[in-house]
Amino acid sequence: MGTHAALEEVYERLLANPGVVFLLGAIDAGKTTFGVELAKRATAAGIETAIVDSDIGQSVVGPPTTIGLKYSGFGDFSPAALRQSDSLSFVGSVAPRGHMLPLVTGTAKLTQRAKDSGARMIIVDTTGFVSGLSGQGLKYYKMDVLAPDFVVGFERGGELEPVLGVAQRFTPAEVIEIEVGPDVVVRSVDERITFREEQFATYFAEGASRWRVKPTVFMPTLPPEFDLALLDALVVGMEDGKGTCVGIGVLEYDGREDILRMVSPVTAGVRGLRLGSIRIDTSGRSRGPVDLKQLFQTE
Ligand SMILES: Nc1ncnc2c1ncn2[C@@H]1O[C@H](COP(=O)(O)OP(=O)(O)OP(=O)(O)O)[C@@H](O)[C@H]1O
Ligand SMILES: [Mg+2]
Repeated sequence: MGTHAALEEVYERLLANPGVVFLLGAIDAGKTTFGVELAKRATAAGIETAIVDSDIGQSVVGPPTTIGLKYSGFGDFSPAALRQSDSLSFVGSVAPRGHMLPLVTGTAKLTQRAKDSGARMIIVDTTGFVSGLSGQGLKYYKMDVLAPDFVVGFERGGELEPVLGVAQRFTPAEVIEIEVGPDVVVRSVDERITFREEQFATYFAEGASRWRVKPTVFMPTLPPEFDLALLDALVVGMEDGKGTCVGIGVLEYDGREDILRMVSPVTAGVRGLRLGSIRIDTSGRSRGPVDLKQLFQTE
């Protein structure tokens, strides 16, 4: 399946044919390292480049719960520069399961935005969710809507065969397979959680303001007589009303006044708030997932 290729050959092949490059692999496969290195090399070669980071859990562009777009700009792809996204799309969860639709539509939206802005090399990073019906389905629908020129698969031991087979048979992409090298470091669950908390905390450390929000600004719309206390600590996506997410915030319920406040480093340009599906505090610590259907007592 595909061509087994050495890393250097893959970089050369891609740099000679800039386009949409879709990175595919299980967790800790080297996707992000490869993507950032490709972005550096493409920028150095004078190619307008963008990274679309659709990994919502181990996000490097923008905060967790979002898909982030970063243009090559001055070619600074340090972790700090990458965190400062040029555009965001809100998903509201740190894991894909149950959130396929905003993941697919958001990735498509930001990839299109990168194209419209003149990026020729667009590198799409993804979560490590590649197996089972849902994992395969997610990758298929993403590839179907993005129509990537290249799919680069990072394979350890056959785990990618099903999804790469799908890429091969159902998309026009050229599929390239890279064997994951022994140097690629596996991170523990705790390290992943710590990384995510730090990404959240860094985001909120940039001077968070706090202001009152009306219960009418949400998507989905709150049912009548809704108990606002249920929204305490929920992550929300801040939307500008023109289709762009300008940042994320955390809701706080004030029981004395029965009102909601929002904490966020973003202070302007917000018209509506999208409800996420996790609770956190602004130090980034998770307070667990939320099932909106349960909160709303509806399907
Ligand atoms: N070619 C390489 N040589 C040496 N180390 C590497 C190489 N590629 C990746 N690594 C290291 O392996 C680890 C995992 O790599 P990376 O984060 O790129 O994987 P990933 O597939 O994006 O993982 P995730 O599932 O967390 O998104 C990192 O610590 C990275 O520095
Ligand atoms: Mg990654």
